[in-house]
Amino acid sequence: MCGIVGCTGSAPVKDVLISGLKRLEYRGYDSAGIAVQKPAGPGGAPAPDLVVVHRVGKVAGLESELEHQSIPGTCGIGHTRWATHGRPSTANAHPHTSCAGDIAVVHNGIIENFAELREELIARGHHFTSETDTEVLPHLIEEAYEGAPDGTGAEEATHDLLRAVRRAMRRVVGAYGIAVTCAQEPGVIVTTRKDSPIVVGRGADASYLASDLIALIDATRDVVILEDGECARLTPDGITYYDAAGKAMEPRITHVDWDLDMAEKGGYPDFMIKEIMEQPRVVRDTLAGRMVGGELTIDELGLTPEELNLIDRVYVIACGTSYHAGLIAKNLIERWARIPTEVEAASEFRYRNPIITPSTLVVAVSQSGETADTLAAIRDARIKGAKVFGITNVIGSPVARESDGVIYTKANKEIAVASTKSFIGQVVSLSLLALSLAQAKGRMTTGEVRMLFREMGDTAEQIQWIFDTQEPAIEEAAAAMKDAHSALFVGRGIASAICYEGALKLKEISYLHAEAYAAGEMKHGPIALIDPGFPVITVATQSPVYDKTISNLKECEARGAKIIAVATEGDEDIKQIADHVIYVPRVRDCFTPITATVPLQLLARSVALLRGCDVDQPRNLAKSVTVE
Ligand code: F6R
Repeated sequence: MCGIVGCTGSAPVKDVLISGLKRLEYRGYDSAGIAVQKPAGPGGAPAPDLVVVHRVGKVAGLESELEHQSIPGTCGIGHTRWATHGRPSTANAHPHTSCAGDIAVVHNGIIENFAELREELIARGHHFTSETDTEVLPHLIEEAYEGAPDGTGAEEATHDLLRAVRRAMRRVVGAYGIAVTCAQEPGVIVTTRKDSPIVVGRGADASYLASDLIALIDATRDVVILEDGECARLTPDGITYYDAAGKAMEPRITHVDWDLDMAEKGGYPDFMIKEIMEQPRVVRDTLAGRMVGGELTIDELGLTPEELNLIDRVYVIACGTSYHAGLIAKNLIERWARIPTEVEAASEFRYRNPIITPSTLVVAVSQSGETADTLAAIRDARIKGAKVFGITNVIGSPVARESDGVIYTKANKEIAVASTKSFIGQVVSLSLLALSLAQAKGRMTTGEVRMLFREMGDTAEQIQWIFDTQEPAIEEAAAAMKDAHSALFVGRGIASAICYEGALKLKEISYLHAEAYAAGEMKHGPIALIDPGFPVITVATQSPVYDKTISNLKECEARGAKIIAVATEGDEDIKQIADHVIYVPRVRDCFTPITATVPLQLLARSVALLRGCDVDQPRNLAKSVTVE
């Protein structure tokens, strides 16, 4: 996902920007660029010009291109872009500039009202060179800087970059972290944010900013993490901070005592926990920009509503954790859109002869986008005439390239081998797909779609609530099961899919054997395993099948099982049967997978740590499985 760096000092900044961008590479990106002010001319006269170099591809490619250019400027900004609006291309790579080329902007986030702003700006004579949402920003700032009429009546010239940025950002709806530099103001960078991080810090002889602390860590350990609406004005001599009302303020300095390894992990002890904790952001980012003017919008589907309406069968093909996201998709697509849906392990799908017609939609789900079995299944499905839709986390991956349409989950690069945040990104993306199908089939009104969309967005805070309140309960449950030889996960309805994922997480990182069953299946075999103390983990949240789940748990309890229940906040009755209870907030049943999977991820990690396992790199496993 996108990354921002900026630096202004007395020495050339080109290499500082490149090394900052390299530190941000782990986030995943498709293009990179920098904008550097040309140094002042003879006698200190400003040279009102910027050198802007941006290109598609890796930072190393940008670096080689810059090697042959003399860029002595000492003030500049840089960016790694992860495409959202507009494909990965050199034209779409940041920085973007104003018509006069003297204002450059880098931006993380999504500008929701960019289409209307762009139309207005074009009508007032602005010229656009990219397909991005970001490009409206340099033009808005240009108008504010020069006092050009912007249709708002506030037409006085500011000739002050800070004021121009503040004025321009008032027009913007959406999420942003930005850095702006202007050739008319030598040595100045202005930065501000809303819902997208910006960190600012003063080094020995320069001022720095970045979207991630990791890019600043070589320069300073004393940083200021901007809050929404706050701005900072960086110069070679210092930094001034402004609150959301525009008043100068004292900075809140945070001292960071991390080494590089810790910084890469965001201060967490391992990548797995860092990635679990990112899940509220993943929900928000995956939903951002999807509700435009009250309409659910998934342009990347590549299918018109009429074509969607013709779909009469869906296959979800995937492996491992992604397969479990597929089980949830089956539940939602059948529930909301009433389209028969099958979920199949990609390794099986490719070797049988599934019934595929031109009205079949095949949905391929793959975090890495390069799983060999999933790719082979896509190719097979396309030969047989199906439309293939990919859901992946990796831009430009084979799954993305070989599908007719693609939704990118906004998880950012996932480093821990066991998938956590990617799963949540997949579930949210698949839920959006299910809503689109329901809408196209006329099974849901626009009002119902909006309501479900809003409730899905609320799960971001609900996940945070789990982090804030349930750690002791999870630790206690982990301690109670760490010495077991085996564990069963049981649930009914959509909760059974959550249990499959919970069992996979536990076995792959703690090496404790675990299986998941639909709870109603227990008495048809698995219950024979239960003896006193045997751990049975259940997702027994409020749902139409809650009472049935409780009956199945009673059968386990009667045989001495140790029951660990994930239950709905406020459910006191469950304590009569469960030895340990982990609560999740009350959500509509269809959104339980987004919330109730989280404590199972945390439980698996805690058990693994208690058993002395490496949670980031479990034995025998690889992050992407590119062989059959
Ligand atoms: C489990 C896990 C694997 C992957 C599977 C498919 O935590 O990560 O089960 O889900 O190997 O990988 P992708 O999604 O990259 O196709």
